[in-house]
Amino acid sequence: MKVLILGMDGYIGWPLACTLAREGHQIKGVDNRLRRKNVEEMGSMSAIPIVPLEDRVKKINELRSLLLQPVTMEDFDISANYKRLKKLIRSFKPEVIFHLAQQPSAPFSMKSRRKCIETHHNNVDSTLNVIYAMKEAAPLAHLITIGTMGEYGTPDVPIPEGRCEVNVGGHSTMMPFPRNAGSWYHQTKVHSTHNLRMACNHWGLRVTDIMQGIVYGTGVEATAEDELLRTRLDFDDCFGTVVNRFVVAAVLGEPLPIYGQGTQTRSLLPLQDSINCLKIVMDSNHPGGYHEINQFHEYYQIHQLAQIVSDAYREVTGEEASIIRYANPRVEKEEHLYEPECKWLKRNGYESTSSIESTVKCMIFNVLRFKKALAGFKKVIAPTVSWVDEVGTIFQLDN
Ligand SMILES: NC(=O)c1ccc[n+]([C@@H]2O[C@H](COP(=O)([O-])OP(=O)(O)OC[C@H]3O[C@@H](n4cnc5c(N)ncnc54)[C@H](O)[C@@H]3O)[C@@H](O)[C@H]2O)c1
Repeated sequence: MKVLILGMDGYIGWPLACTLAREGHQIKGVDNRLRRKNVEEMGSMSAIPIVPLEDRVKKINELRSLLLQPVTMEDFDISANYKRLKKLIRSFKPEVIFHLAQQPSAPFSMKSRRKCIETHHNNVDSTLNVIYAMKEAAPLAHLITIGTMGEYGTPDVPIPEGRCEVNVGGHSTMMPFPRNAGSWYHQTKVHSTHNLRMACNHWGLRVTDIMQGIVYGTGVEATAEDELLRTRLDFDDCFGTVVNRFVVAAVLGEPLPIYGQGTQTRSLLPLQDSINCLKIVMDSNHPGGYHEINQFHEYYQIHQLAQIVSDAYREVTGEEASIIRYANPRVEKEEHLYEPECKWLKRNGYESTSSIESTVKCMIFNVLRFKKALAGFKKVIAPTVSWVDEVGTIFQLDN
């Protein structure tokens, strides 16, 4: 298939490109290196060293059959270059477009008014440009976007896949399940969801919008083929998602940071599963219109995740990884019901590839190799961004 990956240099976009290229699909990508720049701005770097974008693409082409079209990557901002995006889509004629080109950090979006607006411009405008370019240049393509389970918030009722029955005044109808974003980033994902749904209703586009849980892992089968194909792994307090950050903290001998009681529950899946699920969606016979699904394997409270990483670290190294509690810098419920549904993917063949315990152990082995190079970056792990106050001080609690 002809596949366009927007956000191809990212944590998920790169393993997706490697996997699909290995399977013989024809791949073109776009990325403006925003993730690399933002992590640098945090004073951090990927815990697993990655090479420049051009070297990744060169390597992937070296490993592929010469009979296949080469993988290519263009460097431009899709939120600001509509004409270039439309031209690319018109000339390439993709059958599938993955739209992953977003600023994905909630804390980064909460840092300041400027970061809030930058995140809105980037995430909302990029999705609008993609749907307009599709309408003009590839109206029959299948657009696959990744939203987040965080769009639903923690509503204290079970979370269905997208829609639910609403009864008012003796009448009932199916409506989108209410969104309840907890950060400016999540709000941009909610806006994108609404915009995608309207584009499908008005123009008949084919869209699968995936509400994804938190992803963890240091790579997938296809990125293990060569060191130059490694994907990034962030651990700073803005771009390090929870398990990834806990693993690097443990390796660096830093305590694993928990906010408040750590009883917040979140859904998760390994990176390899995320890629497998994206392939299931790509291969599905999408009839057209807006289709929303949830994508995760299981869910845990944050303090349970810290315990899993701490136990795995002891098993791998024989050393202890301690856990530290901070006054919660976020505005979020710590006690809540969490019963999300994940039916469509399981009906369509999704089975998890590994347990969280074995993936975490494998991650620890992989990060230990780079422990020395990371020693100077311990300071980026502790939380610095408050949800209510731009210069808020975040206190350590008595444990
Ligand atoms: N990683 C997770 O745990 C997770 C969980 C739920 C949802 N998601 C969603 O999945 C998608 C991918 O996430 P990720 O973790 O790979 O993030 P990422 O930041 O690593 O990847 C996004 C890529 O898109 C690029 N990009 C951003 N804006 C762009 C623009 N305007 N033009 C061109 N390129 C642009 C970035 O440089 C980056 O390489 C995002 O939409 C994110 O919100 C991720």
